Parts: sequence; C-alpha cells; structure tokens
Amino acid sequence: MSRSAHPAGPRHADVLTEGHYSAPAADLNVLDEKVWARTVTRDEDGALTVGGIAVARLAEEFGTPAYFLDESDFRARCRAWADAFGPDADVFYAGKAFLSRAVVRWLKEEGLNLDVCSGGELTTALDAGMPAERIAFHGNNKTVAEIERAVEAGVGRIVLDSFQEIVRVAHIAQRHGVRQRVQIRVTVGVEAHTHEFIATAHEDQKFGIALADGQAAEAVRRALSLDGLDLVGIHSHIGSQIFDMAGFEVSARRVVQLLAEVRDEHGIELPEIDLGGGLGIAYTSEDDPREPHEIAKALSDIVTRECEAAKLRTPRISVEPGRAIVGPTAFTLYEVGTIKPLEGLRTYVSVDGGMSDNIRTALYDAEYSVALVSRTSDAEPMLVRVVGKHCESGDIVVKDAFLPADLAPGDLIAVPATGAYCRSMASNYNHALRPPVVAVRDGEARVIVRRETEEDLLRLDVG
Ligand code: LLP
Repeated sequence: MSRSAHPAGPRHADVLTEGHYSAPAADLNVLDEKVWARTVTRDEDGALTVGGIAVARLAEEFGTPAYFLDESDFRARCRAWADAFGPDADVFYAGKAFLSRAVVRWLKEEGLNLDVCSGGELTTALDAGMPAERIAFHGNNKTVAEIERAVEAGVGRIVLDSFQEIVRVAHIAQRHGVRQRVQIRVTVGVEAHTHEFIATAHEDQKFGIALADGQAAEAVRRALSLDGLDLVGIHSHIGSQIFDMAGFEVSARRVVQLLAEVRDEHGIELPEIDLGGGLGIAYTSEDDPREPHEIAKALSDIVTRECEAAKLRTPRISVEPGRAIVGPTAFTLYEVGTIKPLEGLRTYVSVDGGMSDNIRTALYDAEYSVALVSRTSDAEPMLVRVVGKHCESGDIVVKDAFLPADLAPGDLIAVPATGAYCRSMASNYNHALRPPVVAVRDGEARVIVRRETEEDLLRLDVG
C-alpha cells in the first residue's frame, strides 16, 4: 500500500487495494492460542472468556471499545524472559509498548528492569516505585530537564544518542556531583524488520551514532574523557517485529568489534552490551515467533562466539523487549455497529473504535486477526474489513479477515495481540475518548487506565 497521501487525505484507491489474506480457518470459532492471551478460552456458551470472565460481562461492566489485559500472562512472560536470560543478563521491558503504574509494579515484582524514553514514562516508573537503578533512559533528543530528572533520580543508565548528549549528560552529572552510568547507542548498519534485513538503509535515520567512519569510536573517546560519565557499554537496536536472528548476529558482531577496538585503544573492556528489543510476536496464525529461551540462547551464543574470536571477556548482555512481553497479553473488544456488504468486494464491518485505538494498521499496514467472541457461529465465513468510526477511509483496524456471515450489529468482536503500541499510540482523533485498559486475573477485572471522558477533553481545552 502506498503511504503517500493526497493533499486532501489518502486517495481511496491507495487504501482500498486488494488485500493479502489466506483461506479462512477451517473453523472460525477456534481461537488460535498463538495470537490470544494465555487464559483466553471459550466457555460452554461459546463466549470468549479471559481470566475466567466472559466478554459479555466485561463489555457490560467496562463498555467498548476497551483493551483487556491478561495479567497472569503478562507476569508469566516477564518470568519467561527473566528465566531465559538468567542472572548474568538483564531484561529491560520497553515501556513505550505500554506503560502504566500497575505494569510498573508487575515488572518490579517479576524482577524486570524498565526502559523509558520520555519524562512522562520516567515519572510513571518512579511514581509506581520502580527503583531508579533498574531504569534505563533512552531517546534521541532528551531535554535538559529530562536529563536533570534522570540524573537526580539516579537512573541505572542513560543511553547516549548523540555527540551533543555526551557533553550534556556529562555536565549535568558533574553539576550533581555524580558519575552517571551511560551506554552509547550505535547504529550498526543493519535495520531488521520481520523476515528481511537491509544492510544499507540504516545510517539514514535519527537514532544513535554510526559505527561507520570511526564515529562511534570517537564517541567512546569523548565519553571516556569526561569526568561526569561512567561508560559501561554499547547499545544497539535494529528494528521491530523481527523473527530472524541474522540481523542480531551482524549487529552483535559489529558491536563486539567496537569493544575490541576500545580495548586496543584504551586498554579497557567495556562490561555491557545491549542488543535492544524488536522481537516479533504472532499477530496472525501465519506468524511464528520464537520462545524467549531460544532467543536468549541464540543471542548469548552469538555474543560469546564473537567475544572468543576477539579475545574479549564476554560482556553482560541486556535486551529490551516491549512487544514480545505485552503484545500478546491483550485484546481489544469492540461492538459491531453497522455491516455493509459491497457486492464482489468484501463486507465492511464498522466497530465503535478504530484508528484512535489502533493506528498500527493505517500507519504500518500491520496485519491483525479478529474473531466473533460473544457467541459461536456455524455460518459460512465472509471476507470482511473491520473499520472504525472515524472520518477517514484509512480508518482500518483489520484489513482482511473472515467472520461468520451471520454477524449482526450488537455482536462483540475482538482483535487479539493489541497489548503493544495500541493504547500507547492511541489518540483523540475526532475527539474520540481513549479506551480503558482493564487487567483481568483469576476471575477479577480491574481498570488500570480508565476510559477518557468528555470532561477530560474539555479540561484540556481551556477555551
Ligand atoms: N529498545 C529500543 C531502543 C527501541 O527503540 C524499541 C522500540 C524497543 C526497545 C522495543 O521494541 P519492541 O520489542 O517493542 O519491538 N510503534 C511501533 C514500533 C516502534 C518501536 C520503537 N522502538 C509499532 O507499533 O510497531
């Protein structure tokens, strides 16, 4: 799909292209466990339940649209990542995927660290009691005020993203009479997305300092020369929704090569290497993500092998999964409003949310699955496009999917794997009220981020 927009908005032809879809599943009532949170199942009446609660009850109590997050699944995924990497490595949950105070508490209890990338995320983390030393602060343009707060709070590390920032953080740390632990983010020349990785398109982007032309080596030189900084490692993040380890392999090799150069030039072995996040999840039944223990083993084997070859001590590895932890743990529940069959094309199913609660389809052409969840149905599958209620033809939630042909207004449908980057990228477009996030666990449901109200909108609009 073309991402270029007509000056007056997206051209309909761009949005309404032929889609990509495979044949309908043999039985549309079956919930593929790959894409649904772990406690999701159907009860004897055929309604979807999560944490033991049926969606009809959830819809009645919390309304739609709403995100329902399976807390025990979230916690289990945290433990799986922490166990897979073990005590000699660190897992930082990437808060940008979805952050709230409840999430921070879960992370703290399950032994994970937290990566934040803004003052707002930092405030949320500290307010919910995440120990500052377990927080890493990221971003390509942290403000002076944000750096001040991070240094004052005593965050465990700041990831330096530019030459200016090296000096800025050093000055601020010195002013506070501390040596701030920092890593330098480098761009390794690999940008990986899902199955492919592109070895040239990398440097032309805003993040990090290029390994090329000795720039990263120069950044290390400067960081080591400044009293306010304690340079502990090198950071790299190569992309999103990655299934293939080949990109990490190249990235790790290049980072280790830099560590070897640093040792040769300065006589020190930097003790940490962070390989970033980006590990993929299943959005549809066609996706095949790896388990955390496979990923941990692959990454640790790569780093160990490269370090042995370079005669370096193996540094402490850290990773920053966001999507892989929270993504699969939540689904968005919608109520069907209108149904429009377009002869010879597809049927448009309009729900009570849309691009304001899931911008990923419009923004990245992301693929999602959808299921009828308030009941089962034996009707024939029909090809549908699930769309929202916004004034935009690109307001698509699920581009191509199959739902039973007897779908009717008032039915509840759910889109799985919306835990990452849906609520966190939600907007008030058309003055939509951003949906709540409801945590469900062991038969209990509680709001962890409440639904916005019209008063919230009016409060911001000071007249
Ligand atoms: N670490 C760094 C430095 C990052 O920039 C990111 C994501 C992560 C970790 C976490 O990546 P994850 O494991 O969640 O894929 N909004 C987009 C993705 C942008 C991600 C930006 N950085 C989406 O909806 O797919």
